[in-house]
Amino acid sequence: MRVSLSLAAATIALALGSNAFAGPGEDLAAAQKCSKCHTATTTKKGPSWASVADKYKGKADASDKLFTYLKTGGKMSDGDDHKKVEAADADIKALVAVVLASK
Ligand code: HEC
Repeated sequence: MRVSLSLAAATIALALGSNAFAGPGEDLAAAQKCSKCHTATTTKKGPSWASVADKYKGKADASDKLFTYLKTGGKMSDGDDHKKVEAADADIKALVAVVLASK
């Protein structure tokens, strides 16, 4: 009984906590210190990634837009340039996927 219960708990943790397991996107976010200004769910200096995901929900070009934004350091609403991500395209795409999967 105890074994199956903890197995069930582990399964739930896996299902809910995919962000807790680092992949290339999470690694890059950590290396680039995105967390200085962003978290998944709360607004810091920048918007929460959940709110970004919400803003782009249903938009087919969301990944491309955010990829270009991060790759080139897009303009922010206050006119400054956003932090530019220096990394391999595939890793930036993985990072965009992490952002868009946030909720
Ligand atoms: C120095 C603070 C800072 C850092 C570091 C930073 N951001 Fe941001 N980010 C912002 C701010 C502020 C905005 C809101 C821009 C605006 O108002 O247009 C933003 C917006 C965004 C957006 C939304 C763009 C949109 O079109 O709505 C994404 C995605 C994003 N950041 C991802 C990242 C990632 C990934 C990193 C790490 C590589 C990162 N940011 C690092 C401050 C930061």
